[in-house]
Amino acid sequence: MNPDKPADLLPPVLLIGCGKMGGAMFRGWMAAGISPSVIVDRHTTDIPAPHRVVRSLDEVPQDFSPAAVILAVKPQKIDPILPSLTRISGHPVIISVLAGRTIAGLSKGILSETPAGNAPVIIRAMPNTPAAIGQGMTGYYAPPEASKQQIALCESLLRASGEVIRVDPEFRIDDVTAISGSGPAYVFLLAELLEKAAIKRGLAPEIARVLARKTISGAGALLDQSPEDAADLRRNVTSPGGTTEKALAVFSRPEAWPAIVQEAVDAAAARAAELAI
Ligand SMILES: NC(=O)c1ccc[n+]([C@@H]2O[C@H](COP(=O)([O-])OP(=O)(O)OC[C@H]3O[C@@H](n4cnc5c(N)ncnc54)[C@H](OP(=O)(O)O)[C@@H]3O)[C@@H](O)[C@H]2O)c1
Repeated sequence: MNPDKPADLLPPVLLIGCGKMGGAMFRGWMAAGISPSVIVDRHTTDIPAPHRVVRSLDEVPQDFSPAAVILAVKPQKIDPILPSLTRISGHPVIISVLAGRTIAGLSKGILSETPAGNAPVIIRAMPNTPAAIGQGMTGYYAPPEASKQQIALCESLLRASGEVIRVDPEFRIDDVTAISGSGPAYVFLLAELLEKAAIKRGLAPEIARVLARKTISGAGALLDQSPEDAADLRRNVTSPGGTTEKALAVFSRPEAWPAIVQEAVDAAAARAAELAI
């Protein structure tokens, strides 16, 4: 046994697309410890050895047998890549993080030039951008033909960038997209609006900014570390007749947050379903 190679090193992967999401995931894998892997990306320059960056799929060493291939290019750039995936050795499981691309659609693209072949097993995952700091939330769907080992591998890779949850059937990925995939943007919007409200009340912009940001990040960290429900944490800071109660009464009007949050999530999920191909 090689003493330089810890037993729990993640197996080698082929990452196709190392931009915002792929890069965040690969940084998580490097931090967790990953076997020498190959990245296909036109721009990336900051991945250290023993990993290797190539500029196109044709340059992937023929003797490289990854345990998994991670598809992380923009959805509109995947089609020319798909047929080449059958040439990768070792029958790797494919993990796609592409928004709106279904397993059926991806399989069809993979087999477009070799229709008589068997498409590799594809697992569909929806991460979010806090993955960049190891605080991601990823939902994934694995089809019935995925083996226990492939699912375990997928979970160990996704867990390197945060929490992982499995959903079923596949269309539930649209709900994951609407809640946790798009969710960080909802929270950032709240931070923006709080900051604007503080400025409107006369606070200096730099004070407004720090008050809003630290409130959101502190409340998020408390929620993360507390065993209590969000509703209990809210009640804990709401004294009867106090200031928080006054504000919450406005937010909680039936036509306000209870209706708007549901409407927003439903709109995102509907759009995800509409875009699915
Ligand atoms: N960002 C998010 O919040 C988020 C959340 C969940 C899922 N996703 C999914 O993650 C995927 C990637 O999104 P992203 O924001 O990380 O995209 P991105 O920043 O554009 O990264 C993709 C990278 O892949 C490169 N690339 C594309 N085709 C290539 C090819 N044939 N050969 C070599 N390099 C190629 C791109 O280069 P070029 O720019 O030159 O094409 C780019 O550097 C998307 O499918 C998205 O749906 C993103």
